[in-house]
Amino acid sequence: MEDNIQKTKSLSAISPPLGGRGASLSVFAPATVANVVCGFDVLGFAVNEPGDEVIMRVTNKPGITISKITGDDGRLPLDPAKNTVSVSVQHYLNSIGRTDIGLDIELHKKMPIGSGLGSSSASTVAGLFAIKTLLGDDADPAKLLPFAMKGEEMACGHGHADNVAPALFGGFVLIRSYEPLDVVRLPHPAGLYCAIVFPDVDVPTREARQIIRKNIQMKDAVTQWGNIAGLVSGLFMNDIDLIGRSMKDILVEPVRSMLIPDFYKMREMAMELGAVSFGISGSGPSVFAFTRDEDTANRITQKLQQHLTGIHIGSNSYVSTINDKGPRVL
Ligand code: HSE
Repeated sequence: MEDNIQKTKSLSAISPPLGGRGASLSVFAPATVANVVCGFDVLGFAVNEPGDEVIMRVTNKPGITISKITGDDGRLPLDPAKNTVSVSVQHYLNSIGRTDIGLDIELHKKMPIGSGLGSSSASTVAGLFAIKTLLGDDADPAKLLPFAMKGEEMACGHGHADNVAPALFGGFVLIRSYEPLDVVRLPHPAGLYCAIVFPDVDVPTREARQIIRKNIQMKDAVTQWGNIAGLVSGLFMNDIDLIGRSMKDILVEPVRSMLIPDFYKMREMAMELGAVSFGISGSGPSVFAFTRDEDTANRITQKLQQHLTGIHIGSNSYVSTINDKGPRVL
């Protein structure tokens, strides 16, 4: 990752901040569904909602402050040395030699933390996109990816890119390689809907990563990479049946599903209602289903939420197409 950051440095030729002191910008960055069942750490896509908002203002004192965080129930640090948004933005400013800049950040969380929907990624990407835009830096947004990965490393102990890359680029993304970083945007069938249900139980990504097996058997690896190749082929071929039958995970889901109330029951209900596929979003506890239409997606979220209410677990739901745009200035 350091290599990628060094490369960014040599690419930089950044103009002074737009408008000077007082200039401000508000940016939205989307939630993401990572892994997409079989692609642990290598596949992810962005959705239209939920997402986070960052308001960034230029100040006259070099350094970053965080004046406000809302929607986090007091869980996120206001200390700029400990918050993933400010730390990522500071890394970016350091890399382009602009430590003279002063910034104040407001972070408005519009999605649950520890939900498996790329909450920290959405915040970090919104912050990085805001500073890039404020500086008038029109270079490829891909240059921001290593900094966003730094934020992930800080948030959960591992700098995976399967949330930050789709949050940054939009669409469906494959992390072909981490060393060196090689990110591939994938096509997807138009009209594929995603039904997301977040059961209100806490599953911190850091812990959900620790329980995964460290070693796997060759026969399991063969099954898994067959499914990943099938899913990617289905995306290219617009073959929703192939996408559905490829979305199977025999490595991570059997372990992580234990952290999600009635995971297999919810899968059964979603599939009976016509889901193309069903699985854990990121490290959970959110679950998601692909569907061929919006009505089916709505029926699934309704049914799963009713079920969760019945077992005394609160929930939120979202229905979305795949978001091909990524972050946007509000
Ligand atoms: N690939 C990551 C994981 C996504 O499954 O741990 C969650 O951030």
